Amino acid sequence: MTDQVIGRKPAHATIEYFDDQHPPLGDFMRDVVDGLSATPRSIPPVYFYDQAGSALFDQITELPEYYVTRTELDLLESISDELSLRAGPGAVVIEPGSGSSVKIRTLLDALGDAAAYVGLDISKQHLVEACEELARDYPDVAIGAVCANFTTGLKLDHLPLPEGRRLVFFPGSTIGNFEPAEARAVLAGFRTGMRKGDAVLIGADRVKDEQILVDAYDDAAGVTAAFNLNLLKRIRAELGAQLNTDDFAHKSIWNRDLERIEMHLVAKRDTSIELNGERYVFEAGDSLHTENSHKFTPESFATLAKDAGYTLVKHWSDPAELFSLYWLEPKWEA
Ligand code: AVI
Repeated sequence: MTDQVIGRKPAHATIEYFDDQHPPLGDFMRDVVDGLSATPRSIPPVYFYDQAGSALFDQITELPEYYVTRTELDLLESISDELSLRAGPGAVVIEPGSGSSVKIRTLLDALGDAAAYVGLDISKQHLVEACEELARDYPDVAIGAVCANFTTGLKLDHLPLPEGRRLVFFPGSTIGNFEPAEARAVLAGFRTGMRKGDAVLIGADRVKDEQILVDAYDDAAGVTAAFNLNLLKRIRAELGAQLNTDDFAHKSIWNRDLERIEMHLVAKRDTSIELNGERYVFEAGDSLHTENSHKFTPESFATLAKDAGYTLVKHWSDPAELFSLYWLEPKWEA
């Protein structure tokens, strides 16, 4: 007996390769000290995602108020035939910031015959585990894992990728967590891993009724509050800060002018954070800004795409117009 079945692609039950691009890890202490010393005070949202923070985020995606994840998944399923037609046979799906995404499964199911998948993430262990699981479940897809910081471009030239159309998949409205100039740079950076005919499929949350937005980031069960406050627990546990998490409250605010949800930790009473020999004083009501989640209209997203060097070819929304998926193609010099 031979394993070779004529006419079928070879089955892979494990990842094809692991490429470690040794991304520089963020300096947690430096970023927290800088953020506490700045006016207004802020901490970059990347630091939410330690083990506890990632588990809380997974819980957020299941909350009744957090429509984002289920709406995007339903939308992906509802346009699966069109995605399969657009991608064509033997597509190579590249997912920056793949983490433990479940959405990739919906996309691979929709495409039906993707030839390869490349997961890119900064967190090595998480990445390899998720890609190994995917390789077991999708034995006909050649799965590769790349440990890299996707915000500085995609370095894929040395990878053994098949010739199909490359589809960069960036779901979840992660693009909204970047400041507008960063979002342009991130999108423009994706082009470094693309060639003529390739495309980006990206999910972006929409501007909508203020109450729906505020509730999505301040749920009744308090999971988002715990996610936000976990940042303080992390600063205490990992950086040895002296602080009382009970002195801070979670707050979500819709900033209409900048079309973004802001998350803050607001001092409930006069308090302080002592870190690295410094004392950062908070008066009651003072805020530590922890996240921006920008929302888009189809028009504002089209402007972002254009400014990043893409043509917006197609856009889809759910019937309630909560969330959109966009198909972008890079503009190339003639
Ligand atoms: C990961 N990111 C797209 C989420 C968002 O909606 O901005 C993070 C999040 N923060 C609070 N809830 C969810």
